[in-house]
Amino acid sequence: MGLIIKNASYIVTCTDSILDGVIENGYIIIKDGLIKSIGTGVIPDCLCDKNIEIIDAKGKTVTPGLVDCHTHLVHGGSRENELPMKLSGVPYIKILESGGGILSTVRATRELSKEQLKDKARKSLDQMLIHGTTTVEAKSGYGLDFDSEIKCLEAAKELNIEHPVDIVSTYMGAHAIPPEFKGNNKGYADFMIKDVMPYIKENGLAEFADIFCEDGVFSVAESEYIMKKSKELGFKLKIHADEIVPLGGGELAAKMGAISAEHLLAVSEQGINDMADANVTAVLLPGTSFYLMTGKFAPARKMIENGVRVAISTDYNPGTCPTENLQTIMTFACFGMKMTPLEIIKGMTINAAYAIGRENEIGSIEIGKKADLVIFDSPNVNYIVYHFGINHVDKVVKGGKIVANNGILK
Ligand code: NIG
Ligand code: FE
Repeated sequence: MGLIIKNASYIVTCTDSILDGVIENGYIIIKDGLIKSIGTGVIPDCLCDKNIEIIDAKGKTVTPGLVDCHTHLVHGGSRENELPMKLSGVPYIKILESGGGILSTVRATRELSKEQLKDKARKSLDQMLIHGTTTVEAKSGYGLDFDSEIKCLEAAKELNIEHPVDIVSTYMGAHAIPPEFKGNNKGYADFMIKDVMPYIKENGLAEFADIFCEDGVFSVAESEYIMKKSKELGFKLKIHADEIVPLGGGELAAKMGAISAEHLLAVSEQGINDMADANVTAVLLPGTSFYLMTGKFAPARKMIENGVRVAISTDYNPGTCPTENLQTIMTFACFGMKMTPLEIIKGMTINAAYAIGRENEIGSIEIGKKADLVIFDSPNVNYIVYHFGINHVDKVVKGGKIVANNGILK
């Protein structure tokens, strides 16, 4: 069985080879879940086959399936109770220091069974999919003790098999210091390194290790120690860097050979240059900037000008960005960081694929890549970003099959 998408007003290929990565009046031919051919105008007869389903995409825009490369998918509870505190100006780190924030989600996550966590995360995956996300990175980090972290990572592993959205897992035990280790960062670091990470590796529960390097959480020295040990254990590295305070997280990401550094609202010039030199992808999270209420966004333009690859993601989590919808994030990326709609689409497709090491399989519309595609009911790319707060997705194609149609999962 195959699928043809024809007459698309625009196909945003997200490759560098075709003009700006955009084809007008285009078609895509899909077979066996892969992209077989791409072109413009009328489809040559020799490429058609009787058993092929045809979608007429006249007036529509086709992009690669969106890749949400930074989420905290599996967790319990919600944090709307923090709104009054946020409105009265209590800083994010102060809420955490008083036992709230991440630690309140840790309590809620520990209370739930794996099945309950999966039920909640499944609903989020459904939302992601109907809004165009076909691959998601999922970080642990709301369990913190051995059993709860493993429970969350197993939930993600099982959902990867059960749900059409592909899930790439990251261990983020270094998200906060759990109450059991309060005041003993080194003890907690060694617990992760000796007791938790070897088990995760042996059981194939995570490919990446992430760390929250921030004043009041993990210092640069502690982060470097944990990153070094994670690398020795075979994890690829990610880091929540320079989110609130400019600590030198961008520089550390480059020094340690991390695949990505994320947040970067307060990154230094040196950090930007180091990241460009070391080919570290910047994962920017403008929904979180909006939600932190500080009015500060990451310097995306400066990074792009300096040759840093910029990916954009939701940071879906219960504290600083409770949304699964990457389309809303597109608007924040444009209005908050002055990125163009094309830069944003690339940031959520090919550049996001780089951030999770999947750039050879997904993230662009190229022959031989997986047929993960989104058909937007939008005459051009700018319109998706401009008309915000609604779902523009007409259809989502995952591995060559239509999995969502007009907001309904198939
Ligand atoms: O990426 N910055 C640290 N971690 C998450 C937020 C976690 C939370 O507040 O629950 C983030 O923004
Ligand atoms: Fe995050």
